[in-house]
Order: sequence, then C-alpha cells, then structure tokens
Amino acid sequence: MVAYSHNMFEAELAQYYDVMRQYRDYAKECQFAHDLIQKYYPGAKHVLDIACGTGGHAIEMAQRGYDVTAIDKSQDMINIAREKAEKAGVTIDFDCIDVNDLSSIGEFQAAYCLGYTFLYMTNYADVVEFFTTVHEVLSPQGVFLLDFINGWSLIEEFHRDKFVYQHEGTTIFQFEQATLKKRERVKHIEFYYLIDHHDGNVKTVFAEEDVRIFFNDEVSMLLSSCGFGNIESFGDYAMDENADAAYIIIVAGQKAGGISKAKERD
Ligand SMILES: C[S@@+](CC[C@H](N)C(=O)[O-])C[C@H]1O[C@@H](n2cnc3c(N)ncnc32)[C@H](O)[C@@H]1O
Repeated sequence: MVAYSHNMFEAELAQYYDVMRQYRDYAKECQFAHDLIQKYYPGAKHVLDIACGTGGHAIEMAQRGYDVTAIDKSQDMINIAREKAEKAGVTIDFDCIDVNDLSSIGEFQAAYCLGYTFLYMTNYADVVEFFTTVHEVLSPQGVFLLDFINGWSLIEEFHRDKFVYQHEGTTIFQFEQATLKKRERVKHIEFYYLIDHHDGNVKTVFAEEDVRIFFNDEVSMLLSSCGFGNIESFGDYAMDENADAAYIIIVAGQKAGGISKAKERD
C-alpha cells in the first residue's frame, strides 16, 4: 500500500524523522548558536525555538542552561520532542502553534529557527510576516538566528538522489526527485519512502514539499528591512567559514534598543 502524506512532519513520517536526521550534529549546531547568542546578548537566558521538530535543539539548549520555549505546528513532532525531553531530564515549554501565531507567546532574548525550516517560506510576503513577528517577540537587543541551504546548492533544474537510513531494526530507503519552478524560485521535491521494519511489515509513503531558493545577501536584506541590525552570516556552523561558499548558511540579526525588560527582570 502506498500512503500519501502532504507533510513529512505529520502522522506517517514524524516517527521516522530522527532516523532520517541521525547524521545531524545538534550538539555542534547548539554550541554555535550558544556562542553567537552570548556574543550578541551576554547573559541571554530566555530563548524561543521556532519549528522545534522533535526537539533536537531545544533539548541541547535546555542542557546548556537556557529557559526554552519551543513551538511547532505539528502535534506529532511535539509529542516526540516532549517524550525525548522527559527522558533527557530537562524542562521545556512546548507549544503546538504556527509561526504566524507567535504574537502572545511572550518575550525572548533570543530566537532561532534551525533545520532549514525557513526554506518553507516560499514567498517574500510570508518571510516579511515571519521576520516581523519574530522581531516583535524579541527583547530590545534580542538576537535572531536562522539557517538555510544556500540557494546555489538548490538551483539546478532537476535533481534526483537516494539515501538509505538504518536504525534499530528499521531500514528506510528514500528516493527523491526535484524540479525547479524557475519563476517562483521554488524547488518542488517529491519523496518516496520504503520503510522496512524487518518483521515482514514493509510500507511505502509518498510525500512532497516546496522549498524556496534563498541567497545570503537576499536574506540579510530582508532581515534589515524588518528592523534587524548587526547582521552577520556564517557558513556550515563555523565562525570563520565563508557563508557564500557554504552549503548551509546561518544568518544572525539583532533587534535595536535600550535595556530590555527581560534583562531587568533577571
Ligand atoms: C525540517 S524540520 C526542522 C525541525 C527542527 N528545527 C530540527 O532542526 O530538527 C521542520 C519543522 O518545521 C515545522 N513547521 C513547518 N512549518 C511550520 C509553521 N508554519 N509553523 C510552525 N512549525 C512549522 C514542521 O512541523 C517541522 O517539525
């Protein structure tokens, strides 16, 4: 049977997210995020994890002493994240909401959106709404970090690839093919999964998504036009990498302002 899933982060596929992301080094990404947050806002403690998924960053940041609020629109991903946080012995304030509904979530000294989730903002109107909302929930001098795959790595007209993931009695074969919608600068990716539980239970799932082609200077400009300053970009989670040549770009920006209410509270 072929199950159809519009979204890789719900129902059928959420439970396999960690198997397929086992190559990700959340500790390294969080050490980088921590260094950057503390550079911009020494003493920052209250952070917002936007689109937290299964909690990889939220847990690492809580283990580094941050008070973490983590949001995601998928209840399935949040459920897995909650379970993992409990096992790790950390307390995180999880909330199942859309990034566009952040307005009453509170005030934070830092916010981050990692794991290339930003690429799902497929038009400028969505990006501006997103950046403006994040700007509103930050304390004065608050810092925002996001990462995305460099547009130069996504812009080819067609690509196909296959991957095999193996974890504790489950093997997942992933075949993907992607086409470029040139005018929209959007890549449409179709995924076909064969999931084998080694007990005669084999299932197939089809999913698809649109991701935007973004470039470093373009994202910096958009942040700037939404009120962020001190914008810096980095490549591949290293402070000294050239962002334009990197596969993963991390951009940071800071909200202007005087002494923050949150800082006075602490
Ligand atoms: C690629 S995963 C990244 C998860 C996590 N940040 C990580 O790096 O492992 C993308 C996540 O974004 C969430 N997401 C996508 N669009 C969203 C939206 N509009 N509001 C909130 N969460 C969203 C999905 O449910 C999914 O958990």
